[in-house]
Amino acid sequence: MERRAALVTGAASGIGRAIAQRLEADGLAVLAVDLAPDPDGPGDPFTADLTTGEGNRAAVEAAVERYGRLDVVVPNAGVQHIAPVEEFSEQWWRSLIELLLTSPFLLASHAWQALGESGQGRFIAVASVHGLVASPYKAAYVSAKHGLLGLVKVLALEGAEHGIAATAVCPGYVRTPLVEDQIGAQARTHGIDERDVLEQVILQPHAIKQLIEPSEVAEVVSMLTRSTGAAFTGSPVVMDMGWSAR
Ligand SMILES: NC(=O)c1ccc[n+]([C@@H]2O[C@H](COP(=O)([O-])OP(=O)(O)OC[C@H]3O[C@@H](n4cnc5c(N)ncnc54)[C@H](O)[C@@H]3O)[C@@H](O)[C@H]2O)c1
Repeated sequence: MERRAALVTGAASGIGRAIAQRLEADGLAVLAVDLAPDPDGPGDPFTADLTTGEGNRAAVEAAVERYGRLDVVVPNAGVQHIAPVEEFSEQWWRSLIELLLTSPFLLASHAWQALGESGQGRFIAVASVHGLVASPYKAAYVSAKHGLLGLVKVLALEGAEHGIAATAVCPGYVRTPLVEDQIGAQARTHGIDERDVLEQVILQPHAIKQLIEPSEVAEVVSMLTRSTGAAFTGSPVVMDMGWSAR
């Protein structure tokens, strides 16, 4: 059988890099899309700014042209911005919504035909436990991730007759630069020392006080690409160290 093909966004770092690595090890061809792709990283590097319509279109077209097919789309690229709502700028709001919500929609829309032709199409969005619960100072991120779970439900319903399954993976805190970069901002906002941020703020909502490893998220994504993945269509797959159990 011809090699299945995947498109992973935000593939130069953190969770996206681990997913690209894992899917490549599973035998898939992987287009590793990023604003600043790593030429030495997993997959075939492709540069795109996913806050633009053109960037999302170009990424899907590149995958279909290069591999002649597209079976798995993993919208994962993300950024965070932390500020109280009255100080949260419109510019930050718009750019987070573009990247975290509009990009997954555009990727689905452009890839829909190819995913249908796959026979086992998979749209696997890396959402967050913040698609289910909120934290203060993250207005745009929490809103976008809740919206992403809504998008996945619609895609699951529309995709069923085309053999496409759509799922949102919802991790708690994962050991990546996105989390490490929040430590300084969280320390300033909460008025506490940087070294207390991990225990008192970041891991505070986890029942198990551990960061999740990027490879653990990648393992779940890998499972969802296979036939078992169909049963999870329309659902959040929550891996949050007990956060949302409260
Ligand atoms: N790290 C966590 O604790 C955690 C928890 C739950 C969900 N998530 C989600 O996982 C995803 C990946 O997060 P991460 O922690 O691996 O982040 P990361 O910062 O390590 O990697 C994000 C990648 O996205 C890329 N990117 C940013 N803006 C882009 C743009 N405009 N166009 C193209 N690429 C762009 C960056 O260059 C980077 O390589 C995000 O959607 C995030 O919301 C992360």
